[in-house]
Amino acid sequence: MAFSLSVYSRNSLLLPFLTLFLITSSRANFLQDFDITWGEGRGKIVNNGQLLTLSLDRYSGSGFQSKKEYLFGKIDMQLKLVPGNSAGTVTAYYLSSEGQNHDEIDFEFLGNISGEPYTVHTNVYTEGKGEREQQFRLWFDPTADFHTFSFLWNPQTVVFLVDNTPIREFKNLENIGVQFPRKQAMRLYSSIWNADQWATRGGLIKTDWSQAPFTASYRNYTATSCALPVNPGQASCTSAPDNRPWKLDPVSQDKLKWVQQNYMIYNYCTDTKRFPQGFPPECSV
Ligand SMILES: *[C@@H]1O[C@H](CO)[C@@H](O)[C@H](O)[C@H]1NC(C)=O
Ligand SMILES: *[C@@H]1O[C@H](CO)[C@@H](O)[C@H](O)[C@H]1NC(C)=O
Repeated sequence: MAFSLSVYSRNSLLLPFLTLFLITSSRANFLQDFDITWGEGRGKIVNNGQLLTLSLDRYSGSGFQSKKEYLFGKIDMQLKLVPGNSAGTVTAYYLSSEGQNHDEIDFEFLGNISGEPYTVHTNVYTEGKGEREQQFRLWFDPTADFHTFSFLWNPQTVVFLVDNTPIREFKNLENIGVQFPRKQAMRLYSSIWNADQWATRGGLIKTDWSQAPFTASYRNYTATSCALPVNPGQASCTSAPDNRPWKLDPVSQDKLKWVQQNYMIYNYCTDTKRFPQGFPPECSV
């Protein structure tokens, strides 16, 4: 646990104000910090809370959620995705608030037949509205070993990271009328389910149930967050856990560019068929 003092000014025209806040960093124990919420025994916490596994068979998937809610922070988890023929399985790993007009920040891992690459699907919802998909390939096999998938979320930006390489940034562009998730606290969720209708190009490839159960594994969860309660909108957690400014440093910006140029396979901002009336405003920034 670390204590930290930070000055935060939302608007230089307003009186800058001092905010004292608490950054908590916790290396999790799954038994203490998560609840398996569905799947009747298909989700398991083992090794004294150090490892969590979720499985899917032809009858059901499974899922878990964090006990804590976060309003901004950096959330890291190491995941090892379903190996072998995982076509039709979807492992969702996301932050979400509750209710109809919820905010959500998503990773979804779409399985594939043996030897073919996963798709990493990402999206950001604000007050119930998403439709901001970007999809990626990975530069490694995510089923061979554990890799770290992270969310960096503060009032100015949402960054998706893979092994600390940023793959996507969704900036706060409220100044040009783009809604940004910053008013609702979120929990971390993960689940594994079957979506062969959606995930395999409209049901082209069926899930091979003879390979079931399909299992994804989780370890080494770390959440570095501003402690609640924080007044919604009066954001206080402006810096990365090590107190660097939130802005991506030049090296990270280069990495982001590298991923976007080489591994991005879908971007809503270039999908003209979908937006015949013109792209959402954030696409032209
Ligand atoms: C599975 O692999 C094929 C061939 O590389 C690719 O076209 C397809 O998009 C992949 N499917 C998923 C769900 O990633
Ligand atoms: C656990 O994650 C932290 C950062 O989130 C990393 O520094 C550490 O090396 C990881 N531990 C293992 C055993 O991979």
